[in-house]
Amino acid sequence: MNRDNVEYFAAVVGAGPAGLFAARELVNAGIHATLFNRDIRPGGLAEYGIYPKKHKMKEVLRVQFRQALEMACIDYYGNVTVGNQADLTLDQLRQLGFQAIMVTAGAQGTKWLKLPGEDLRGVYHAKDLVYHYNGLPPYSEQEFEIGRHVAIVGVGNVMTDIARYLIEEKHVESVTAIARRGPGEIKFERKELGYVAANLDIKGVDEEIERAAPLMWSLGENPDRPKEFIHTVYDKAVPTDSKTRFMVRFLLSPTRILGDADGRVRALEVEENTLICENGDIKASGTGRRRIIDMDTVIFAIGDSVDEQLGLPVDRFEFVKNPQPRFEIEGNSYEAFDPETGRLIEDVFLSGWARRASTGLVGIARKDGIQGARAMIQYIQTLPKPEESPLPKIEAWMHSLGKPLVSKQDLIRLECVECEQASKLEQEEFRFTRNEEMLAAIRRLA
Ligand SMILES: Cc1cc2nc3c(=O)[nH]c(=O)nc-3n(C[C@H](O)[C@H](O)[C@H](O)COP(=O)(O)OP(=O)(O)OC[C@H]3O[C@@H](n4cnc5c(N)ncnc54)[C@H](O)[C@@H]3O)c2cc1C
Ligand SMILES: NC(=O)c1ccc[n+]([C@@H]2O[C@H](COP(=O)([O-])OP(=O)(O)OC[C@H]3O[C@@H](n4cnc5c(N)ncnc54)[C@H](OP(=O)(O)O)[C@@H]3O)[C@@H](O)[C@H]2O)c1
Repeated sequence: MNRDNVEYFAAVVGAGPAGLFAARELVNAGIHATLFNRDIRPGGLAEYGIYPKKHKMKEVLRVQFRQALEMACIDYYGNVTVGNQADLTLDQLRQLGFQAIMVTAGAQGTKWLKLPGEDLRGVYHAKDLVYHYNGLPPYSEQEFEIGRHVAIVGVGNVMTDIARYLIEEKHVESVTAIARRGPGEIKFERKELGYVAANLDIKGVDEEIERAAPLMWSLGENPDRPKEFIHTVYDKAVPTDSKTRFMVRFLLSPTRILGDADGRVRALEVEENTLICENGDIKASGTGRRRIIDMDTVIFAIGDSVDEQLGLPVDRFEFVKNPQPRFEIEGNSYEAFDPETGRLIEDVFLSGWARRASTGLVGIARKDGIQGARAMIQYIQTLPKPEESPLPKIEAWMHSLGKPLVSKQDLIRLECVECEQASKLEQEEFRFTRNEEMLAAIRRLA
């Protein structure tokens, strides 16, 4: 399909895996897709979340993203944020002539637990640190005061990524992962544990599982299962130079972060939990007993919220979805909804982590982008075809914003300069970590 025979025009907010695959699907259905991406570079967390040493995986994904962007009927505006008080609002996108908007902006908000002491120096949210060590501006330039003893709240794959960074790059003395539930509810996977298993205090973990065992048996859980899972990975772990002691503690919920006279973290107060079974789900329930664990850094790896500034209703960390979708796909609703008016936001669709915050791997986001696009295609096909293309007006409007915009051609220029730099430095890879540097590199070849 070429640009002259498109029949409809859609905006896609965000160019992570969900946005890029949604755009490709739209184009295959005869719909022109314009991507608006906050970051200069596309890829989202596939570029700026996946652990930096996973070079091969990142490069395979970059090739797929490049292929999508090469499609003639996909336009790209990088360095453009959509939202209230941003470069463009959702209403402005409508006024520009887009017939529907696919929001795939990921989960960019912070899930605060509203605990006393969250504002102390040394308290961080995993996403910010992940963005920092992956070189995403402006986080790349932000300072993270990492101490010697770090608590990570949460036991998912993001926790293991953060632990890996602290073990391999920061060589801290201890990393303690804190789980609110028991050993039966760990969420990290075998492969991800493998990267940090050599540093595990295996005796300490065994004691923790032993402590939780009576409770687990009482709920029909077998403590030998998580024990065996952890031991299998531990037994195969490749020895490491780092002396960091990595520990996992169960059945604890943070209740307060304590600071010193300089406003820096000195300890984490936690409440001991028991487990209860409610409608088949194992849940943590506080016992009222509290204890203090000495720590100088606390990192929350408990998932993220969507961005409230985007301009869509949010409930419990996620954008609200239409409970009775018009275009349901595999039982999912991809449609934005306003619970206050009880009305559908009929031209806005959601997919990827913008639909289900902090859920699933790249492959899941990709599938969700495609399915969200399929729901949106059904909606668009109910609309009259526009008499003329809105693209010239959109382009003029974008240039009137008076800020550097990044096009598909600019991305190629950026890659050329970075490749050149990598070979000059004899490195496998080189990537700029400041927007000014990226824009200057693009200008150099423009
Ligand atoms: C630390 C970490 C490590 C991970 N490691 C792996 C792994 O090893 N393997 C794996 O398969 N999966 C991994 N994942 C999961 C994977 O990254 C996600 O499943 C996937 O990236 C989600 O895709 P998405 O497109 O929905 O959102 P994102 O990838 O978050 O993309 C969102 C895009 O929207 C843009 N955006 C945000 N706000 C706006 C706005 N207001 N206006 C315009 N654009 C906006 C951003 O610039 C970004 O490009 C990891 C996730 C994390 C957090
Ligand atoms: N290498 C990889 O493949 C990779 C790397 C990173 C991320 N990812 C993917 O990205 C997604 C997000 O990962 P994630 O680790 O952020 O999420 P996750 O797997 O859902 O883990 C979140 C952890 O935070 C805990 N938590 C949530 N709310 C909490 C609260 N209020 N108090 C205390 N603890 C709380 C959860 O405990 P409960 O279980 O009790 O809720 C859980 O242990 C996942 O699908 C993951 O697989 C993949």
